[in-house]
Amino acid sequence: MRISVIGTGYVGLVTGVCLATKGHQVICIDKQLKIVKKINRMEAPIYEPGLEELLRNVITKGTLVATTDLKSAVMNTDISIISVGTPFRDGKIDLRYIESAAQEIGNVLKEKNSYHVICVKSTVIPTTTDTLVKSILEDASGKKAGEFGLAMNPEFLREGKAVQDFMYPDRIVIGAYDKESFESMKNVYKDFFDAPILKVNLRTAEMIKYTANALLATLISYSNEVAVICEKVGKIDVKEVLEGVTLDKRFNPRVNNQLIYPGMVSYLKAGCGFGGSCFPKDVQALLAFSKELGYFPSMIQATLAINYAQPYRLIERLEEILDTLENTKIAVLGLSFKPETDDIRESPSLVIIKELLAKKAKVIGVDPIAIENTKKKFPQNELLHYSTDYKHALQEADAAILVTAWSDFTKISPQEVKKLMKIPILIDGRRVFDKSSFEAAGVQYIGVGLAEYLQ
Ligand code: UDX
Repeated sequence: MRISVIGTGYVGLVTGVCLATKGHQVICIDKQLKIVKKINRMEAPIYEPGLEELLRNVITKGTLVATTDLKSAVMNTDISIISVGTPFRDGKIDLRYIESAAQEIGNVLKEKNSYHVICVKSTVIPTTTDTLVKSILEDASGKKAGEFGLAMNPEFLREGKAVQDFMYPDRIVIGAYDKESFESMKNVYKDFFDAPILKVNLRTAEMIKYTANALLATLISYSNEVAVICEKVGKIDVKEVLEGVTLDKRFNPRVNNQLIYPGMVSYLKAGCGFGGSCFPKDVQALLAFSKELGYFPSMIQATLAINYAQPYRLIERLEEILDTLENTKIAVLGLSFKPETDDIRESPSLVIIKELLAKKAKVIGVDPIAIENTKKKFPQNELLHYSTDYKHALQEADAAILVTAWSDFTKISPQEVKKLMKIPILIDGRRVFDKSSFEAAGVQYIGVGLAEYLQ
C-alpha cells in the first residue's frame, strides 16, 4: 500500500521504516527540513537500536522517502498515519499538533478524488478521533466520514525495543469508523501474520492504549508501595514477596508446569519509579481526562503519587546512614530513564540529582550515553560532575546509588566496590545486586524494599 506517515518522531519514524521494510511504499512527512534531510541521508534522527540499518535498506530500495510536502504525499498515498506529539501541558493533553495535521490532511482531501484513510497513531484521549479529528476532517474536506476512512491504531513500542516491538507485535489494535476503514488497516498489517488483530471502535482503541500504560505503571507503583511496607516491617525482602506472589499461574502461565517466562514478572518489581516519555504523561492525561468527566480515579492518582515519592525515599535512606548529605560526594549510577536509551525524560535520576544538590551534597552523574542530555537540564558545575567511567566515580564517592540498570553497572562486583570506595555504601535502586555477596565483601548494601530492622 502507499502510506503517508505524518510526524517523524520516535513513533512515526519507527512506523514508517518498519512498514517500508514490510514492503509498503512509505512517505514520511515532517515540518522540519533538517530532520527530513537527515532521514533521506539515511541517518536516524533518534537513537533506537536497529533503526538506522533498516532505514538505510528502505531508502536504498526506494520504499521510503521523507519530505516536508504533506499535500503531495497525501495526494499520492492511500492512507495517512498521524503520529505527531501529544504532550501533557497546563494540566491536560495538548492536541494542537493532531488538530493541525487533521486540518492539513482535510484541506488536501477536498481536492482528492480517490478514497483515503486517516489513521491516528498518536496517543490521544478517548473520543479525540471520532469527535475532534472527524469534525476537522469533515469541515476541511467538505466530505462526510465514510467518504474517507477513519481509524485509530495505537502503538505499544518500548524505547530501545521499538523496532522489535513493531515487527513482532503482541497484538494489533484497530479502531475503525467503518468496514472499509478496517479493511484498509488490515491490509497495512497483512504481513504481521502471527499477531492477533483486535477490531474495535475508535474510542475503544484510544482507551486500550491508556489502560495498558496506566496498568503497567500501576503494577510498578503497587510494587513500590509493597516495598515501603516491607522496609517498615524489616527483614522482609520485597523481591521474595513479589516472586512468591507472581509464581501464581494467573501471573505466570506454564506449560506442563514449566514456567514460560522464568524470573520476576515484568513491571511487578520494586525500584526507584517509572519515567520516560509515555507512562508519566499518559497516566497524568488519563487522570485529567477522567476528572473532566466528573470522576476522580483514585487508583490512577495513587499510581502517580507513589511514583512521585519513590526517588525521594532513596535519598531519605541514604540520609539515615550518612546522618547528613552536606559535603558528601554521591555517585549516581545511571541517568537515562531506563537502559539502552539516552532519553532522560522524567527519569528518577533527575529528582535524585536535584534533591542531592538541594541537600548540599556533591554529585557525580555516571552514564554511558545520557550525559549530554542531562547536562542540558543540570549543567556541570563545582558541585555536579559527570563521568562515563563508574570506576572513577566510585573512587571519589562516599556512597553510590544505582538508578538505571545499565549492564555495565549490573556487572560491578562486590570486590570492585569494596576496593574502589573509601566507605563502601551502595543503594540498589533497581534491586539488581546480590545483597549477601556485597555484604560478605564488606559493602553496606541498601536495597529498595529491604531493611534489616524495624524503623
Ligand atoms: C512504555 C510502554 O511499555 C510501551 O508499551 C508504550 O508504548 C510506551 O511506554 P517505555 O516508556 O519505552 O514504553 O518504557 P518501559 O520499558 O515500559 O519502562 C517505563 C518505565 O518503567 C521506565 O522508567 C522503567 O525503568 C520503569 N520500570 C519498568 C520499572 O520501574 N519497573 C519495571 O519492572 C519495569
